[in-house]
Amino acid sequence: MRKLVLCVAALCLSGMTAMAADDPIAVRKHIMDSVGAAAGLSGGMMKGQIPYSPAAGKSATASMMAAASSFGAFFPEGTDTGDTTASPKIWEDAAGFQKALDKFAADAGAAMAASGKDGPADLESFKAAMGPVFQNCKSCHEAYRIKK
Ligand code: HEC
Repeated sequence: MRKLVLCVAALCLSGMTAMAADDPIAVRKHIMDSVGAAAGLSGGMMKGQIPYSPAAGKSATASMMAAASSFGAFFPEGTDTGDTTASPKIWEDAAGFQKALDKFAADAGAAMAASGKDGPADLESFKAAMGPVFQNCKSCHEAYRIKK
């Protein structure tokens, strides 16, 4: 049984690596989709449509952190065309894009640190921790994403 689980995990991993190698556009869009999902969960809790819990707050925060620290790896040269809304500016102004990535990661990291082990204790502390993270969406999209 254990062997089977390991095999499945290995398959999964090799699948992911192949995906990253063959189709970085698909990978980065999936990563942003996970950011969108975490934003949906966060927004739902902030609006009172989804009951707040520290574990859910932590989950949303951790998704942001995971995305912020991996997203930048999926923009190799030549992936500015195709099924993507990434702006050519990402490659023209690579230093600026890196700065935007770094800020996103720093804000997500601060939110993680503020979350503690069990997640933000209440909705107010969740809002305080995640507020700065959400400011990154619009600023980066406006600068580095094209509207289609
Ligand atoms: C550092 C830059 C950056 C930050 C910060 C950022 N995004 Fe994005 N996002 C992008 C880029 C670039 C794309 C386009 C990716 C592509 O099409 O290749 C994108 C695409 C998306 C998409 C569409 C994914 C798809 O399937 O096409 C969603 C949804 C999204 N972002 C949500 C968010 C939310 C919500 C936040 C804030 C919590 C956020 N993003 C923060 C750069 C960023």
